[in-house]
Amino acid sequence: MTVPAAIRASGLMDPFGRHVSYLRVSVTDRCDFRCVYCMSEHMTFLPKKDLLSLEELDRLCAVFVAKGVRRLRITGGEPLVRKGIMTLFEGLSRHLKTGALDELTLTTNGSQLPKYAQALRDCGVERVNISLDTLKPDRFKAITRWGDFGDVMAGLEAAEKAGLKIKLNAVALKGVNEDEIADLMHFAHARGADLTLIETMPLGDIDGDRTDQYLPLSVVRARLMDQFTLEDIPYRTGGPARYVRVAETGGRLGFITPLTHNFCESCNRVRLTCTGTLYMCLGQEDAADLRAPLRASSDDAPVARAIDAAIARKPKGHDFIIDRTSRKPAVGRHMSVTGG
Ligand code: 5AD
Ligand code: SF4
Repeated sequence: MTVPAAIRASGLMDPFGRHVSYLRVSVTDRCDFRCVYCMSEHMTFLPKKDLLSLEELDRLCAVFVAKGVRRLRITGGEPLVRKGIMTLFEGLSRHLKTGALDELTLTTNGSQLPKYAQALRDCGVERVNISLDTLKPDRFKAITRWGDFGDVMAGLEAAEKAGLKIKLNAVALKGVNEDEIADLMHFAHARGADLTLIETMPLGDIDGDRTDQYLPLSVVRARLMDQFTLEDIPYRTGGPARYVRVAETGGRLGFITPLTHNFCESCNRVRLTCTGTLYMCLGQEDAADLRAPLRASSDDAPVARAIDAAIARKPKGHDFIIDRTSRKPAVGRHMSVTGG
């Protein structure tokens, strides 16, 4: 079961000299919400039999950790709707205790946090990213279709009470929440939370038209600068966000701009889906199947080799474009498959 020292020592470096130290793991493609920019209302989800068990996910993560991954982020879909998910967090927390892992975190829509916030904190989770695109309950319903604003507020409170640091993520949507960006920022900063704004990415078919939703963050930033003093700061969380300090609130504001600014040069991450497929880039189709080598042997060496082979083909970057002429997503799979 252990990874030979020779494999461990080599670490994970891609052809462009980027060290892959960050693994995002989507533990389910399912979600209790149906956000308009993410899913269509009637989604066909993966058959349960195709999913890796939580034990298999744990084992795969351990191989990545042994190979030099220092940060793990659990995502989905909504990770907290996967049955028994806390056993995975409990298992993964052992890598924090040994010091092999620097950070174990998750991205969540917040709806299940009243139930799980304390248990997550007890597993060594220190930070959570919570998605929140609006502060208006009606609008929240319109964006998430199935979500309930009150549940997410209760989740936020539970996270605060458990001592989890919170980062709020908001997708900037043209004509939907663009008038609320400053309010979202005040809301976050009043709680000592960072706010990160995200541009819509062309991932997977949705019911609407993405060109109608796309709001460049360059525009948002310019508008904010009429009201606020934004000072560029070198702060990084290991993700693609670039941060500013907002003088008026004292808080941090992040921008994730996959379309207006290429964030690929410093990419240190790969993404594992709940079926054991490894995507080397969010915006490319190339992938490696880790489920077959995982299941073929109780020895981890074959899966470790498959990981090396995959990292050796990590592409330089994505070529996202929100295309008015073809209106097709850049990649067919939804964010909820690859993990946000
Ligand atoms: N483009 C941009 N952000 C997206 N998210 C989900 N789908 C998309 C998309 N197509 C966001 C969620 C969450 C984060 C994980 O990704 O709102 O905040
Ligand atoms: Fe669920 Fe997140 Fe997708 Fe919304 S954006 S449907 S919360 S996975």
